[in-house]
Amino acid sequence: MERIHLKDKYFVPYIPYERLEKAIDDVAERINHDFKNFDGIPIVLCVLNGSILFTGELMKRLNFPCEFSSVRLSSYEGTLSTGITRKVLGLTSSIKGRTIIVVEDIVDTGKTITDLYALLLDAGAEDVKICTMLLKPEVYKKDLKLDYVAMEIENRFIVGFGLDYDQLGRNYKDIYILDKRTEEKAPMKHYLIFGPPGAGKGTQAAKLVERFGLRHVSTGDLLRRQIAEGTELGLKAKHLIDQGLLVPDEVVEGMIAAELDANPDVKGFLFDGFPRTTAQAEHLDTILADRGRKVDAVLSLAIPDEMVFERIRHRAQIENRADDTKPEVIQNRIDTYHAKTEPIAAFYKDKGVYQEVDGTGTIDEVFEKLCALM
Ligand code: IMP
Ligand code: MG
Repeated sequence: MERIHLKDKYFVPYIPYERLEKAIDDVAERINHDFKNFDGIPIVLCVLNGSILFTGELMKRLNFPCEFSSVRLSSYEGTLSTGITRKVLGLTSSIKGRTIIVVEDIVDTGKTITDLYALLLDAGAEDVKICTMLLKPEVYKKDLKLDYVAMEIENRFIVGFGLDYDQLGRNYKDIYILDKRTEEKAPMKHYLIFGPPGAGKGTQAAKLVERFGLRHVSTGDLLRRQIAEGTELGLKAKHLIDQGLLVPDEVVEGMIAAELDANPDVKGFLFDGFPRTTAQAEHLDTILADRGRKVDAVLSLAIPDEMVFERIRHRAQIENRADDTKPEVIQNRIDTYHAKTEPIAAFYKDKGVYQEVDGTGTIDEVFEKLCALM
């Protein structure tokens, strides 16, 4: 087993195939034991693409009558900011009243598996058992019981045996881990600037990116660019923004991922105006984790609502931002912020990366405090 090179990253051997085989033997034995006297025929459900190799290895060890099916999970287009709704694709046989053994490659935060679990029960499954090859127990935060776990691993990014880095690496029979040496060379940093509209995020972000050599990612600016260019996305976005509503997560996330990939050589990124919902925060984690990266710090600017109101109105006048002029639109933005965006603070506090700064001082005072945190 040698070091392997996938796109911009190197991976080193982590779990040899022989150890995987042994773990799969054990987990198959447990499933065989539990289903020995099962009255009925369960469906083994492979979650594509990642579980393809694991499911194959597992299936040939199962010694009770079972059927096979496979699915993919996709984001569902056309929903508002209620978070990404997902949908099961490719479920061919009816699962009404059936017992399903879901076979996953890896469970990380557990978002995917809990979504799938709920979707299968919704579709009428009688009972859903979960079997995953790998589990990262340090990050798994869901209550859902994982019936069969072949192996637990530390919270590091891995590839091989079905698992990918940007669709590459699935074909290796051993599992590899991101080579720390290549990461240490240029660890890309990801900061979020956080706070109500008018807290000074844009102003501070502009100063921070200059001081620290970061790329400023403002979803507001990305969207306004689309609107100015009159793209289809821009027209849809304008309609929502004019009402003080949020643009659908999948649209914003697509723009973010494109922005990350378009700037491989910067020292890091400062996100401004994103994420605005916990669903987006979770997806940002996934977008970054897919690239072997993470959120390093969340810099929160705290200011009271009255000040938010005054600052937005003032800015609307001087910057001629039509979306910010009407009082009811301003109030709607404040309400949306409290309802959808504030819960994100709790999400990042849990991760220990949340830092709050009093945003009511002068621009320079606030900037100095932020610099001290960086
Ligand atoms: P969760 O929804 O956070 O549990 O993430 C599960 C999904 O994230 C998996 O099905 C994989 O597609 C992907 N994933 C999580 N960790 C890794 C990893 O270390 N390598 C490759 N893919 C991963
Ligand atoms: Mg997967």
